[in-house]
Amino acid sequence: MYRMRYSQSLDPEALKKAAIDRGTLKRAWQFARHYHLRIGIYLGTIILSAVAGVVPPLIFKQLIDHAIPARSQRSVTLLFVAAIVVAVAMTGLGLINRYFGSVIGEGLIFDLRAALYDHVQKMPIAFFTRTQTGALLSRMNNDVIGAQGTVTTLATVTSDVFALGMTLTVMLLLSWKVTLASLMILPAIIVLDRKLGRRLAALSRHRMGLNATMTTTMTERFNVSGALLVKLFGRPDAESAEFAHRAGDVRDTGISLAMTARTYYGALALMGSFGTAAVYLLGARSVINGSLKLGALVALAAYVTKLYSPLTDLASARTDLLTALVSFERVFEVLDAPRPLTEKEGATALAPVGAGTIDVEDVWFRFPAPSTYAVASLETEGSVPGTEPSDWILRGVSFRAEPGHMIALVGPSGAGKTTLTSLLSRLYDVTAGSVRLDNHDVRDVTLQSLADAIGVVPQDPHLFHDSIAANLRYARPGATDDDLIAACQAARIHDVIASLPEGYDTVVGERGYRLSGGEKQRLAIARVLLKRPAIVILDEATSHLDSENEALIQQALATALAGRTSVVIAHRLSTIQAADQILVVEAGKIVERGTHTELLDADGLYAELYNTQYNGGDDSELAEGSGAHVDAVAGQGEAEGRAGIGS
Ligand SMILES: Nc1ncnc2c1ncn2[C@@H]1O[C@H](COP(=O)(O)OP(=O)(O)O)[C@@H](O)[C@H]1O
Ligand SMILES: [Mg+2]
Repeated sequence: MYRMRYSQSLDPEALKKAAIDRGTLKRAWQFARHYHLRIGIYLGTIILSAVAGVVPPLIFKQLIDHAIPARSQRSVTLLFVAAIVVAVAMTGLGLINRYFGSVIGEGLIFDLRAALYDHVQKMPIAFFTRTQTGALLSRMNNDVIGAQGTVTTLATVTSDVFALGMTLTVMLLLSWKVTLASLMILPAIIVLDRKLGRRLAALSRHRMGLNATMTTTMTERFNVSGALLVKLFGRPDAESAEFAHRAGDVRDTGISLAMTARTYYGALALMGSFGTAAVYLLGARSVINGSLKLGALVALAAYVTKLYSPLTDLASARTDLLTALVSFERVFEVLDAPRPLTEKEGATALAPVGAGTIDVEDVWFRFPAPSTYAVASLETEGSVPGTEPSDWILRGVSFRAEPGHMIALVGPSGAGKTTLTSLLSRLYDVTAGSVRLDNHDVRDVTLQSLADAIGVVPQDPHLFHDSIAANLRYARPGATDDDLIAACQAARIHDVIASLPEGYDTVVGERGYRLSGGEKQRLAIARVLLKRPAIVILDEATSHLDSENEALIQQALATALAGRTSVVIAHRLSTIQAADQILVVEAGKIVERGTHTELLDADGLYAELYNTQYNGGDDSELAEGSGAHVDAVAGQGEAEGRAGIGS
């Protein structure tokens, strides 16, 4: 059988020039170290099969040239038994071979996948802000399977080399003239392989690319947000036309591919038949003039059919190996991606129920250069990860939160509030200064205990596509139904859930029941309540909450934050009037600090913001989005901040 050439997004011309990378080969071999013994057994069975494969024609030859002319019943019976034994042995070998082949192949796929998944999961959040999910998925699927192609290639080469060696040796022993004649079509086969074989590979590569773009289009359109965009902009017909165009390309290349494949394999088979005919011609003449026995001719005719496929296979083995190694390399590339935010050797665990003190000391921060964490080939095509860090986002921020206290962060959009909170849970590390929880630098504690200590309710909380109960139990897998209900009652979301037909079994998430922004946040608060962290961070929802929703969130917060240290980013200043300390953040600095009354008395930026929001008859909230307004106010505040409190 001629193997269908399966090539990934690799240019065969580039591959032809590429050298086999010994480093990758060595590393792949090292990666497969658990399989070395099994690979040995696997190759052993392949060699035995190749040797056994030359026996049947020889049995035929014995039968025709010796047993029948000698009219020996005993020889016939012996040959019969031999044929059966060889057939059974080959079947047995095939089974053993398949077993080891799949154990090694699937095992490698498993090992690579598990290693990739583990590594990717522990990458810093910055990595996910740049990486294309599709590229990552293809790395987990296609490349992992592609890498396993090294084993397949190794097996094919071994099998081909031995089968070819054995077949040629036996053929030469039977008749060197006939053997040479059968090899005369070899150049034609090689030319065919070069020309058509390559075109075939190029076509199938092209088709894979087309299929990929078609899939991308579908995944972008066939989700709630995409479908909504298409509908609201009245584009369904344009979208259908565009899709038909892409699908049409797939159809056209499909037809070319089918015809090229047929021509290629047909021509190869034709060449094979020519070779066989040449054997008949030369062989029959030799039988007539007595230089060859009839049985030998029959055997030669059988062997010649086994000659050509290993030859074409071997011709493409180098490319196959290179392709597989490139996949290995692409997997290693991800496995080698640095993980800057790892746990320190000998990290200490924060106490399970800590006091919840937060010390932020002279923290300076800028986002690290993308080149320090990005994997170039996973980024949007053509984009090169920058080598420069961002501008300073935080410039010397200091504050202390006593156990049980509530710290509020207010300030214009883009001031650095969210960034500041992300340093507490170590989504990023500070550039200078330190963040300490209960007197431990967050960089010195175990990641698990840090995650346990801090509960975060982000601005737009994510829910998995699963039931409400399952989403809640993500915080505490052992939680009972009563625990869930208690948490949801405290978060003021229980009544909403109870009113749904399926209650806590209602599936939420992108493709599930669509909770409103405020409901989602209250559910997220319930989730954090189940986790029972010492510190809660809340990035208030900016979606325009109605006053009822707002009141509910206030109540939910009062429960959630009771007895816990909290950092609340507030867009509605009503949320934080009870805060122990309000920090007014602007352009990465704390420009004012104090309690609500203190800040009102100081009559600075905060007072300005507060009056605009509540007394000026303007009920617009201090939300991202109403930025122009807020920034204008902030502009004035900056001047005052400099004259006054500035930190
Ligand atoms: N990954 C990033 N790389 C570079 N700059 C970023 C990144 N994420 C956010 N920023 C910038 O950091 C600044 C602070 O953002 P953020 O902390 O979200 O502000 P806030 O929460 O106060 O509205 C903004 O100017 C934003 O553009
Ligand atoms: Mg923010």
